[in-house]
Amino acid sequence: MTKDSKRRSQAWFGGVDKDGFIHRSWMKNGGLPDDVFDGRPVIGICNTFSEFTPCNAHFRELVTHIKAGVLEAGGLPLEFPVFSCGESNLRPTAMLFRNLASMDVEEAIRGNPMDGVILMAGCDKTTPSLLMGAASCDLPTIVISGGPMLNGNFRGKPIGSGTDVWKFSEEVRAGTMSRQEFMDAESAMSRSPGHCMTMGTASTMASMVEALGVALPTNAAWPAVDARRARLARMTGRRAVAMVKEDLRLSKVLTRQAFENAIKVNGAIGGSTNAVVHLLAIAGRVGVDLSLEDWDRQGRDVPTIVNLMPSGKYLMEDFCYAGGIPVVMKEIADLLHLDALTVSGMSLGENIADVVNHNSDVIRSRANPLVDSGGIAVLKGNLAPNGAVLKPSAASPHLMRHRGRAVVFENIEDFHARIDDPGLDVDENSVLVLKGAGPRGYPGMAEVGNMALPSKLLEKGVRDMVRVSDGRMSGTAYGTVVLHISPEAAAGGPLALVEEGDFIALDVEARTLILDVPDEELSRRRAVWKEPVPPMASGYQGLYVRTVMQADTGADLDFLVGGRGAKVPRESH
Ligand code: FES
Ligand code: MG
Repeated sequence: MTKDSKRRSQAWFGGVDKDGFIHRSWMKNGGLPDDVFDGRPVIGICNTFSEFTPCNAHFRELVTHIKAGVLEAGGLPLEFPVFSCGESNLRPTAMLFRNLASMDVEEAIRGNPMDGVILMAGCDKTTPSLLMGAASCDLPTIVISGGPMLNGNFRGKPIGSGTDVWKFSEEVRAGTMSRQEFMDAESAMSRSPGHCMTMGTASTMASMVEALGVALPTNAAWPAVDARRARLARMTGRRAVAMVKEDLRLSKVLTRQAFENAIKVNGAIGGSTNAVVHLLAIAGRVGVDLSLEDWDRQGRDVPTIVNLMPSGKYLMEDFCYAGGIPVVMKEIADLLHLDALTVSGMSLGENIADVVNHNSDVIRSRANPLVDSGGIAVLKGNLAPNGAVLKPSAASPHLMRHRGRAVVFENIEDFHARIDDPGLDVDENSVLVLKGAGPRGYPGMAEVGNMALPSKLLEKGVRDMVRVSDGRMSGTAYGTVVLHISPEAAAGGPLALVEEGDFIALDVEARTLILDVPDEELSRRRAVWKEPVPPMASGYQGLYVRTVMQADTGADLDFLVGGRGAKVPRESH
């Protein structure tokens, strides 16, 4: 009865015995006819729909277009839900659950009868969690992103997801925006389905999957509500079926070259610092030897040419009309591996051969960049022995080389309790230091590194200060913010030893972050340091804190690194 008994799904659906009966019979309870089990490619559609993840809440509609594409190409689409990591609601931080979701994805793919996989990603962590899980199985896999929201608009002015939240909230604290105006801006910011429409982490990761070659060209930019997003979903469904026939597995696309391309594109788009941890974690799953140093090496001379918030002024809808990621890649084509294979079945170079830039202020030319060296800067020094990151395109030029006195917060509660204290000994030259925001410390490595500035300095007109932590910041945030310090304070990194009044020196050009305290003094402090007690010792959080790796290697759980394939030799009954 089988058309192609070599298909993975035929190990379930191809048998004429008791097991084949079980697998087919129950599937038929939804109305499936006999011939869909004839060996045609079964495409699992991994859906991160959740009403608690508003950025992905339109996925029930989007999936209908994907299914149509799979059917048109002669495949059988079967949708399955997985844990949805929504950024705006999940506490203590969505990042705590990225690895949990990746386990869900991996086991759901491996345990079920599918030949190929379509990953429906949107909100920040949904993209890496799906790719990490799928990479550990290595079936033919293609990503489709849900697309950004339409541009925000408040009283006739464009406003951007996240970026303007941070800005407005500082304006309220500075007394230059009223509480009522602030509340009114809420509905003006998020006015259509989709994810953040700044170049935050969601747009960055949608760009990264396009640059990696695991999504079709133009994946990043079509707004969620644009008909061309639905059309792309349909084409993605069709390609998934073809990829099964071509045996175009994830590992054939996710090569070292693909990661180098993605790092360069991240520099060109002024992408989120979060891409650093996510790409390191994905590379770890697929066995590509990628390091934090690669981010600096590969990204160092890449100019930021995309003029989007938070680095610039436009939003994703503008980016879409200008031509999106294919145009960016064409602009920096000389820096890319153009022969890298993509899920379109063609090379990156072939994908971008005919694209045209429709707005040279949104996507600048190489000769007229927003920032000359836009790649992520990887800093090292005695305060960050294994590294820390800073995003030059979102930082203030006058603070890129700075030495200042540390104002130290032991954890986020300490920060909230004291930052607006009029008696706090702080000025614009101080360096704000936050501990306990790393993978183990928070736990989950929260987006709190872009600490709000003290009100008394905001009132004086100060809008940026050097901030240093082991946490992350939202991809929509900006400022001279040193992030991802490794090892983190909770793991006993030198950050744990910083005291009020110590001097810290940042030099982005030299890539250094120095705690100006003698070694003997640091040893004395280390001798009395006590490891913090995590809030939960058991459950997933207990497992997470015991096994999470540090930010410099991607903050995956140590036992999840690597691929485990998709074979399951045993029957279930
Ligand atoms: Fe979901 Fe920004 S909160 S993409
Ligand atoms: Mg975020």
